[in-house]
Amino acid sequence: MYLGIDCGTQGTKAIIWNNGEILSSAYTPHQISIDNQGKREQSPQWWFDAMVSSINKALIDFEGNRKSIKGIGVSGQQHGLVLLDSNDRILCDSLLWCDTRPELALKDFERKYNIAFPEKIGIQVPVAFTIAKLLWIKDNNPSAFKQIHKIMLPHDYLNYCLTGRYAIEAGDASGTGWFDTHTKSIDQGILGLMDLPSSYQAPEVVTSDAVFGHVRPQMCAVLGLPSNVIVSSGGGDNMMAAIGTGNVDEGMLTISLGTSGTVFGHSHQQIDSTEYPDLNAFCSSSNGYLPLASTMNVTTANNQILDLMGKDISHFDQMLNSANVGSDGLLSLPFYNGARLPNVSSAKGAILGMTASNLSQQNLLRSTVEGVTYNLARGISVLKQSGVIFSQACIIGGGANSRVWRQMISDVTNLKLVVPHSTEAAAVGGAIQAYWACENLRQQRYSLSDICKDFVQFDQPSTVHPNSENHQKYQSLSNDYHTLVDNYMSSDFHR
Ligand code: XUL
Repeated sequence: MYLGIDCGTQGTKAIIWNNGEILSSAYTPHQISIDNQGKREQSPQWWFDAMVSSINKALIDFEGNRKSIKGIGVSGQQHGLVLLDSNDRILCDSLLWCDTRPELALKDFERKYNIAFPEKIGIQVPVAFTIAKLLWIKDNNPSAFKQIHKIMLPHDYLNYCLTGRYAIEAGDASGTGWFDTHTKSIDQGILGLMDLPSSYQAPEVVTSDAVFGHVRPQMCAVLGLPSNVIVSSGGGDNMMAAIGTGNVDEGMLTISLGTSGTVFGHSHQQIDSTEYPDLNAFCSSSNGYLPLASTMNVTTANNQILDLMGKDISHFDQMLNSANVGSDGLLSLPFYNGARLPNVSSAKGAILGMTASNLSQQNLLRSTVEGVTYNLARGISVLKQSGVIFSQACIIGGGANSRVWRQMISDVTNLKLVVPHSTEAAAVGGAIQAYWACENLRQQRYSLSDICKDFVQFDQPSTVHPNSENHQKYQSLSNDYHTLVDNYMSSDFHR
């Protein structure tokens, strides 16, 4: 048995997994501190408390023997900045991936040092990345900055709490902005420009196939686990969801519909992203690469409109279905929390094309979901243009539960979509990675790809195929949408 942990933006999930089956699961929501200037912060303590509470709840509901738990794998929201002082005290709340306040600080830094990130470290660096958060702290919280001893990402922090080991792995680290994706090591040149205090200590870098550490005795006592439980390297949520969907070899695309929307594939070699500002050429947490495109407003945008209408998710499919393809001409640009594709973090949303006859609740919801979907489809074309190869797509995250939305995505992208048995792919990826590390420890050297073939199953009745008539309509509608978005972003109205 293995525990998979997924510390997301909205909450932390724990699952107990065995041979492809989820035997028990529990979820604890997180708070988030926000303001109108782009602030998105959480305390790392909340993640730790939520992890402990979810593991405890999952173990209480589990009918088997907790002594049979062999390993834990932790997935975490990417890019969040965790700073500890020399006594391991948390120095300040963590600025999250979706905090857009550091935009100017990042631009100034690039300009001042004339840094071209893709040439230097093989990856484009948007404001989501950790380096932008660190620059912001340097300017806005100098007393915390002066005391920095350790810098971690959310999943590194949970690994540290579990094992006491201060180390990073390439997948999540490739989203910092100071990690060289070619050599898979910290770029001392870029980090040197940050003027970190002399108290700062660099972490070790570990590979994803090895055991990261063992759960510390005090944590075993808190969690009621046996003393020999191992922890695998873990990784960022997209990296772990790749493992949880079997996306560890070339040929597959994963579409994740959560707070953010991401589309990603796998490649054995690093992709050249110099010409593709919207491509994040990450490392994977399976010792390869994970080219990804990300949008900002996905389930949150849909929920915003549902809330406005006093509806909830139980109305979603029925309302979407009762509007026509193209929402009778209503167009929503759902940039409620800025945009990352195109990369305009100050972007605001817009609704256009309203008439006396098309302004209905159903059209408003459908046009929002269409806007979200066109943005994701733009990410898929960026991946294709940059040479990422895929012939099938798998869809995960909260949004994957909607058949009507799945059909819309299939119609817009012209891709057949499959759904894994568990759409909680990041937590499943954590459990599978822990299994892999255990097998490797026993010198079994069973490939991750074979493990995924054995354990990642798809739910046949949920598969959707594109409808060619709708695809044709959507081709022209989405072209119009993207032209409109590009014009809007180059005007002053979007600010
Ligand atoms: C990816 C990204 C988001 C977060 C969400 O670069 O910023 O997908 O990982 O947790």
